[in-house]
Amino acid sequence: MKFKQALTVIAGIALALSLSACGGGGAGGGGASTPSGGDAPGDVTIGVAMPTQTSERWIADGEAVKTGLEAAGYKVDLQFANDDIPTQTQQIDQMITQGEKLLIIASIDGTALTSQLQSAADKGIKVIAYDRLIRNSPNVDFYVTFDNYKVGVAQANALLNGLGITEKDGARKADAKKGLTIEVFAGSPDDNNAGFFFNGAMDTLKPFFDDGTLVVKSGQTEFEKVAIMRWSQEGAQKRMEDLLTSTYNGGKEKLDGVLSPFDGISRGIITALQPAYGKTIAEGLPIVTGQDAEVASVKLINDGVQSSTIFKDTRKLADQAVVAAKAYLAGQEPTANNTDTYDNGVKVIPSYLLEIDTVYKEDIKPLLIDSGYFTQAEVDAGVAS
Ligand code: BGC
Repeated sequence: MKFKQALTVIAGIALALSLSACGGGGAGGGGASTPSGGDAPGDVTIGVAMPTQTSERWIADGEAVKTGLEAAGYKVDLQFANDDIPTQTQQIDQMITQGEKLLIIASIDGTALTSQLQSAADKGIKVIAYDRLIRNSPNVDFYVTFDNYKVGVAQANALLNGLGITEKDGARKADAKKGLTIEVFAGSPDDNNAGFFFNGAMDTLKPFFDDGTLVVKSGQTEFEKVAIMRWSQEGAQKRMEDLLTSTYNGGKEKLDGVLSPFDGISRGIITALQPAYGKTIAEGLPIVTGQDAEVASVKLINDGVQSSTIFKDTRKLADQAVVAAKAYLAGQEPTANNTDTYDNGVKVIPSYLLEIDTVYKEDIKPLLIDSGYFTQAEVDAGVAS
């Protein structure tokens, strides 16, 4: 991502929002704009807890939320937890002890924060779950995310399209082959999103399994079997290598496609597949899907290696988190656009869901470059500057 450009846009939006009476679209609350407390924004620190810096998307999210909040006049305590649960719980404990007035949290393990959230509630600190739902706690106030089930549907549709079974609009092609061989991967079992992605994808693929168009040759289709802990690239590479050995005669037998839920996992899968099947799709590399439009994978798509990804515009998600935070700190309720999907095990969390886009090679320019998310140079290099 061209950070400076993206952050300038976010800063601009946040500033505009701070100048308005909070009456616009998105998650901003309606009603009076009088702050409930006596604190000026400059006296208020907001804690932002992000899971890891090993994935480019979370760095972008963290920076975008920070910039948006700072542009609205708040101080920000942004922490990354290196995908380590004790580190994240400690960071959140510290934010609460330091008197931070609101928390925005993208959890590592969505079930591990119950006691932190209880302490936050005891002090009247509102909690916004960012992209990942925090489970088993009554003290999650709001959730900003994308439509996660639709992400899975889009991944399955991209796999079907990449395999030549359907048109881009999902219509089945008359001359589609039967008996195509695929394998399926899912994300981290402790991330609530992983189940949504997997269910959306498997529901979409089901008719194609039922009529023999697609076959999962390993027979591994259970979430528990195909989930990759912590979304690990290395874990995915290892599972794909094991599958090649157990089911594909070390890569000598045909494999047409792989459902992958995240670009990092996709890169691990591709690394495992290339020695056996070829460097590019044109050379015989199986069709591999993805998610997040990470620049390293966008380059692979541009180079004909990875077939597709799902673009979740982190700028828009950060904007919604900022809008919701501002609403709470002004004594209002943020506006949800979904109040029935995200049950965290204790209650249904009011949510604001954003739309996603599928990216094939031809979409890189209109969706990612023309919108300023990346520059052409970044895509060519596969590295964000
Ligand atoms: C996010 C995905 C991301 C994954 C791995 C999920 O919670 O929704 O966008 O690919 O985590 O970081």
